Amino acid sequence: MSAERITLTRHILMQQQQHPGATGEFSILLSQIALAAKRISRRLRVAGLTGALGAKDEINVQGEIVQKLDEISNDAFLESFAYGQLVSDMVSEEMEQPAQILGNADKGKYVVFVDPLDGSSNIDVDVTIGSIFSIHRRPAGSGDTLKKALHLKGRDQIAAGYALYGPSTMLVYTAGAGVHGFTLDPGIGDFFLSHENIHVPRRGSTYSINEGRRNNWFPETRNYVAYLQKKDKDSGRPYSGRYVGSFVADFHRTLLKGGVFLYPADPKNANGKLRLMYEAAPMALVIEQAGGRASNGRQSILDLIPQTLHQRTPLLIGSAEDVDTAESFYA
Ligand code: AHG
Ligand code: MN
Ligand code: MN
Repeated sequence: MSAERITLTRHILMQQQQHPGATGEFSILLSQIALAAKRISRRLRVAGLTGALGAKDEINVQGEIVQKLDEISNDAFLESFAYGQLVSDMVSEEMEQPAQILGNADKGKYVVFVDPLDGSSNIDVDVTIGSIFSIHRRPAGSGDTLKKALHLKGRDQIAAGYALYGPSTMLVYTAGAGVHGFTLDPGIGDFFLSHENIHVPRRGSTYSINEGRRNNWFPETRNYVAYLQKKDKDSGRPYSGRYVGSFVADFHRTLLKGGVFLYPADPKNANGKLRLMYEAAPMALVIEQAGGRASNGRQSILDLIPQTLHQRTPLLIGSAEDVDTAESFYA
């Protein structure tokens, strides 16, 4: 192995040196996220032996069953932010209200939005899952004023990314200067740069959607998927179907190989399934920084102004040309 390996912390510090006046705080914040990811990864490695699999007797704010590991992961993030007074509040899929971080309120400069564990249906079957995060500067105000002010546009994120718990554990982030991927070396316990400056291909050859919902699809979705399945040598069709059912895993493949991921609206779910602030928006920042696109069918995800913290949005995300084509079906 090369002696020149670059840790996540060193990489962030190197990037920050290009910004005079940077305080180094941001690298500590990313390290706190990395710590939570390492702790979750470690719990997952032996989850089948420690009784951590399975559901709790609880329903979360989305009306979904809470898995034991959802809660363990949520706590890992809360505990990570408890030191250093950087994060004032955390908004999570697992908590109806934003949580004030003990001792940091009014001091922390940042607020973080997380999907602590993404891909619930894959936890118990040992298939790749992940965590998603989005970092904003803390808006002014406190209490209800702050809560309202947290309806922040994706465009205003200062950083975002995800951890992927697969055959390797990875951390992928952007702070507005490209997208960089790191692989956890579990022997050393640190993330090392493995995927520098990721660019998503302009067009791919796979599409990713839950085909089981076909009978509920709007005609737009039906027509687009039929188009992708139709043979046409010039545009590389038919595309192959790939669907893991963990957004982080489906997104990561799309980022590296190109193509398109869709979770569209349907007549019963006007806003689709995925959550804007801690699923769609962070991945939209990552994909745009990698040269791709994210849209709700009409508008860029990053331009949407959230009405509520847990709101959902239809999502088309991936290679720029594939998202252009997809959008033309929804226009
Ligand atoms: P979460 O586990 O955080 O609730 O998210 C589940 C999401 C996402 O990971 C995935 O893309 C989607 O659910 C799959 O939904 P379907 O089972 O409806 O395809
Ligand atoms: Mn999720
Ligand atoms: Mn989740």
